[in-house]
Amino acid sequence: MIEIEQLSATQAQPLLAALTDVLQGCVADGASVGFIDAADREAIERFWQDKIYSLASGDNQLLVAWQQGVIVATVMVGYSAMPNGRHRAEISKLLVHPGARRQGIARRLMQQAEQLAVERGKTLLVLDTRSGDVATDLYLSMDWQVAGSIPDYAESTAGVLDATTVMYKGLK
Ligand SMILES: CC(C)(COP(=O)(O)OP(=O)(O)OC[C@H]1O[C@@H](n2cnc3c(N)ncnc32)[C@H](O)[C@@H]1OP(=O)(O)O)[C@@H](O)C(=O)NCCC(=O)NCCS
Repeated sequence: MIEIEQLSATQAQPLLAALTDVLQGCVADGASVGFIDAADREAIERFWQDKIYSLASGDNQLLVAWQQGVIVATVMVGYSAMPNGRHRAEISKLLVHPGARRQGIARRLMQQAEQLAVERGKTLLVLDTRSGDVATDLYLSMDWQVAGSIPDYAESTAGVLDATTVMYKGLK
């Protein structure tokens, strides 16, 4: 069984290693999710530590998926700090551990992330994803639109520059 839970900063802090395991597993599998060296666990852990601090301010919300007592997936909803972006939220770190994929976990996380944004009165969601990745199919199937793509946007774990696709979804 898969359970989705929203974590506060206090709840997430003791789960730092588990969050790091998911991100590290995805990077080791070649995902384009900010990091290029899966062996650099410290950098990945630092990233999550910063995000955990940011949960306390309310600028970010974190959802995780549990399967048999283990965190197997994450997604974050980030809120714009600028007054002109108060209607907007950004989805990031949709990560499903390679061992837990194709069970519908990402789809459930995205549905609940969207619900969090709706509850906060947001009317626009944005994200970016490596062009050609399977994640694009998921977003398209959930009524996201492609705004466009930027060539050579991010270095891959294989050392080449990949394009990114910018996507959005109106919630009105
Ligand atoms: C993309 C990712 C989050 C999908 O997670 P998942 O839990 O396996 O996805 P789901 O089982 O919910 O599948 C949802 C849809 O995604 C698409 N999809 C997911 N994996 C796919 C694959 N290997 N091949 C083709 N389509 C795939 C399909 O459209 C699928 O819908 P369907 O099952 O009805 O065909 C996961 O592969 C992952 O973590 N990848 C690395 C990190 C990443 O790229 N994250 C996105 C950053 S923007």
